[in-house]
Amino acid sequence: MNLIPVPLLSEDSRPGRRCFRVKGADRALAVSGLPAEELRVAPPALPETGELDLLRHFTRLSQKNFGISTNFYPLGSCTMKYNPVVHEAIAAQTAWSGLHPWQNEADVQGALRVMHELAHDLGVLTGLPGVTLHPAAGAHGELSALMVLRGWLDARGESHRRTILIPDSAHGTNPASCTLAGFKVVTVHSDERGLCDPEDVKAHLGPDTAGLMITNPNTLGLFEENIAEICRLVHEAGGKVYMDGANFNAIVGVARPADFGVDMMHLNLHKTMSTPHGGGGPGAGPICVTEELAPWLPNPRVVRDEDGIFRLEESAQAFGRLRGFHGNFLVLLRAWCYVRRLGAEGMRRVAENAVLNANYLRVLVRDHWRVPFDRVCMHEFVARPTRSMRDKGAHTMDVAKRLIELGYHPPTVYFPLVVNEAIMAEPTETESKETLDAFAAAMAQIAREAEAGDPCLHEAPRNTPVGRVDEARAVKDPRLCWQCGS
Ligand SMILES: Cc1ncc(COP(=O)(O)O)c(C=O)c1O
Repeated sequence: MNLIPVPLLSEDSRPGRRCFRVKGADRALAVSGLPAEELRVAPPALPETGELDLLRHFTRLSQKNFGISTNFYPLGSCTMKYNPVVHEAIAAQTAWSGLHPWQNEADVQGALRVMHELAHDLGVLTGLPGVTLHPAAGAHGELSALMVLRGWLDARGESHRRTILIPDSAHGTNPASCTLAGFKVVTVHSDERGLCDPEDVKAHLGPDTAGLMITNPNTLGLFEENIAEICRLVHEAGGKVYMDGANFNAIVGVARPADFGVDMMHLNLHKTMSTPHGGGGPGAGPICVTEELAPWLPNPRVVRDEDGIFRLEESAQAFGRLRGFHGNFLVLLRAWCYVRRLGAEGMRRVAENAVLNANYLRVLVRDHWRVPFDRVCMHEFVARPTRSMRDKGAHTMDVAKRLIELGYHPPTVYFPLVVNEAIMAEPTETESKETLDAFAAAMAQIAREAEAGDPCLHEAPRNTPVGRVDEARAVKDPRLCWQCGS
């Protein structure tokens, strides 16, 4: 048998003890300065196995992975979008990945240039020239922008403005970021068309208004048609407008949020600009703000001297640092590649194709499912089971599980909260007509099963190692360690 060399370990004599001590290394441990009671006294019960068996084990595990490289992944809002392999190869080059943030500015001119150019490009795409690349994700960007707003308000002697208006269709991170930044949240209702209602905005504006956070296109995949009017109302009341730009791929290269009247926004580079997204990161959520707000952005900033040298600069008004260094550089590098490869025309086509694909799929899906806001959508749309399906006991979770069984990653489910039993699908700009047709056929099959009360819907998925779990409990009581017994 081809055994992997395993160091000789002494036996564990103490029940329940997870520690081990490598024979012959006692002396090293003794001089390590660790208290004796913290040192391992016995080997862990690691499995001993042959190389080939181990290789097969990990290969089998990797084959159980589901990702954009295996099949369609229409997870609305959080979709795995276009992540070209060439960008991964570039980001993996040690010339980039081997850089250290403490290196001299003179030695990292290339990296500083990438950040400077990316910040410039994002400023052009959004129309908001003050850019920081530091935030690690969308939610982090929201928090940073609210800190900028706080700094700006305080500098004007308007610290009493501490209320932020947020539409009820917003992503949960919006109110969470507000609370974290010390603002009070007031909810604004959507109208029957699924849009933020300017009348309701007007009714909630007042002397304590700091601003409004609005997602556009919103989480229903609808363009906020009254955005210019809403921005005007908020400005008149003395506040600023923050746009959650997580859905920017629907309008990138077509519309600049600054032209609607938006003052600040974040971009989820890990969604819109080519970084694998899922499992919580790594990501990047740069924020773009007007020139007026730019001095309050976090330090440091990358600037370019007249002689073409890039260096770091600090602003006295900055709210401070958001993190140790400059953000997730390799994510920023992928975004830089993305923008520079596609160019203005390519970016525009991203938005056009994202919208076209979503509408194509919406029209196929609505033959069998209820689409509550059934009109031209942006990059995603929301569907739900019909009443008769629900009467037969078929719910959104059953649809999601059956899709897994049929080989698809389910769309986002039970979000946005303004639609009961929501199924939010985002096909993205890069999927083929054949893929969309096949997914629509799977949805049609599930609809027929739901209408017929087929029990397979409640048993799915039957072809995965784990079928249905108590999801609420799994979140609250995760057992993540090896040999926990569950
Ligand atoms: C509309 C919207 N806003 C904000 C966020 C938060 O972004 P992140 O997950 O990068 O923190 C998301 C994430 O999916 C989102 O869909």
